[in-house]
Formats: sequence, C-alpha cells, structure tokens
Amino acid sequence: MSRVAYVNGRFVPQRGAAVAVEDRGLQFADGVYEVVHVAGGRFVDEERHLARLERSLGEIRIAMPMGRAALGLVLREVARRNRVRDGLVYMQVTRGVARRDHAFPKPGPATVIVTARRMGAFPRDVESWAVSAITRPDERWARCDIKSTGLLANVLAKQAAREAGAAEAILVDAAGMVTEGASTSVWIVDREGRLRTRQLDRAILPGCTRGALIGLMAGAGIGFEEGAFSADALRLAREVFLTSATSFVKPVTAVDGRPVGNGGVGLTTRRLFELFAQHVGAGLP
Ligand code: PDD
Repeated sequence: MSRVAYVNGRFVPQRGAAVAVEDRGLQFADGVYEVVHVAGGRFVDEERHLARLERSLGEIRIAMPMGRAALGLVLREVARRNRVRDGLVYMQVTRGVARRDHAFPKPGPATVIVTARRMGAFPRDVESWAVSAITRPDERWARCDIKSTGLLANVLAKQAAREAGAAEAILVDAAGMVTEGASTSVWIVDREGRLRTRQLDRAILPGCTRGALIGLMAGAGIGFEEGAFSADALRLAREVFLTSATSFVKPVTAVDGRPVGNGGVGLTTRRLFELFAQHVGAGLP
C-alpha cells in the first residue's frame, strides 16, 4: 500500500511529496512539530498535543494554520488513508516559503505537513520494553520548551546512544543536572525511594505523556516530586524510566553500561506502565 501525506491542503502520495527548496522549515528549521500516538484508532492525549502545538507556534509567532477541530480531522484522514490504527501521526508546521532572509518574511501561508505510520501495538510485557541509556552533555539551545524541528543536538545525542548500543541519550546540563532524553522525558525513583521528574522550564519540553501520567498518578494517589536531579542521582537511582508519545512508560535498566538498581524493572515503573496502558486502552472497543 502506498503511503499518503497531507501537504498544504492536499492528500498526495508520500513518495515524491515535496516542499519548496526555500521553505523556511528546510532553510532555518523555522517550524514546529508534534507526534501523536494512535492506539486502536484513538488519538492518545490529542488535546494536549494540539494545545502544545498552538503554544509552540505562538512562541515563534506563527498563527495556527487551521482550527484545532479542523486539524483533528486532517490527522484522522491521514491515519485513515494510511490504514493506521496503531501507530503515530506526525505533523509539522513551518513559516512557509520565502526568499532566504533570516528575519520573518511578510506573513504568508504556513507549510503544513502530516504523515502517519504504523507502529507495533502497545507492548503487553513491560520487561520486553526495557532499554539501556547513556548520558550526554545537553548541547541544545535555551528554548527547549518549544517543540522545534531544529533537532540537530538531539540527533547527535541519539546517534551517540545508538553507537554505544543504547536506545536513549539522557542529557545533562553544564551544572550536572539531568534535563531530559534526546526524545523523551526522564523520571527516576531515587535512592531514598522518591519518584522524581524535572520541573517544567525552558530547559525541557513539556511532555504530553509526562502531563497525562501526572494526572493518572493523582487519580491513583501516587505522589512525586517535581524538580531537577543530578546525573549522580540518576546513576544511584533505584529505577529510571522514560516517557513519550511513542515510548509510553519505558523502563531504563542500564545507564552508561551499569545496571539501574538490580538491573530489572522496578515496582514503580511497572505500576506506572500499567496505569498508562489502561489510559491508552481506555475507550478501545
Ligand atoms: N519526542 N522531550 C523531547 C526532547 C521530545 O522530543 C519528546 C517527544 C518528549 C516527550 O514528549 P511527549 O510525551 O509529548 O511525546 C520529551 C517525540 C515523540 C519525537 O520527537 O518523536
């Protein structure tokens, strides 16, 4: 089956789908994006993702190219045309096409791209979902709260992880504090047994999965501490896990080649994985 992309108001064969060479997304990474998990045909945390898209666009002064409801329909149509019931939908909005000049061009139409692809169904078994990670210096810019398509530092960090045989690079700032993963939010259960994740500020993306999980934890009476923790705390942690739209709750059982805790999936990670599995499954037929 050939894949279909949405590009500027049209559904086109993905192979050969193109944007202009002077698209500001291509020239300057002058754009933002979102990735939404589709589970059994349902768009997980859709409201959070569309709200964050609107916020990212607002921060870089691009108007929402269409209303949230209309965008929701486009996402569904792209998923439907690609027969994606379990997978992800990717959307990107750029400042559009203009003669190359760093400053904003006269306001014109944004470029809107939506693609979809299949992914395995939600994992049944948390053990099989466990990965290892490495730590890397956080070399990104100072506005990581904006979901920018400018991901070069993330790309390099992720590649370093791949080359080390790991799945994720956990980024550490100049003060020795963990920020987030190259494409995930990072959580630990520290040596004292406290569940912790970094506070939201300009150093990290406000993860939609992070936000959804915090809501689920509140409902289940599971407490946590929001605040920065050090790379040392990460290395001494009893449990480490990652969250993202495509990782869900993903155990990290080794960091920099050393086991986390006893090297198995911890109780808190297991419980939160199950809580999130119910959330993803909610509303499934
Ligand atoms: N990445 N931090 C970064 C730097 C990310 O790129 C992501 C998401 C997250 C988690 O956010 P969310 O829970 O909303 O997916 C945190 C997506 C999946 C990606 O780039 O593919």
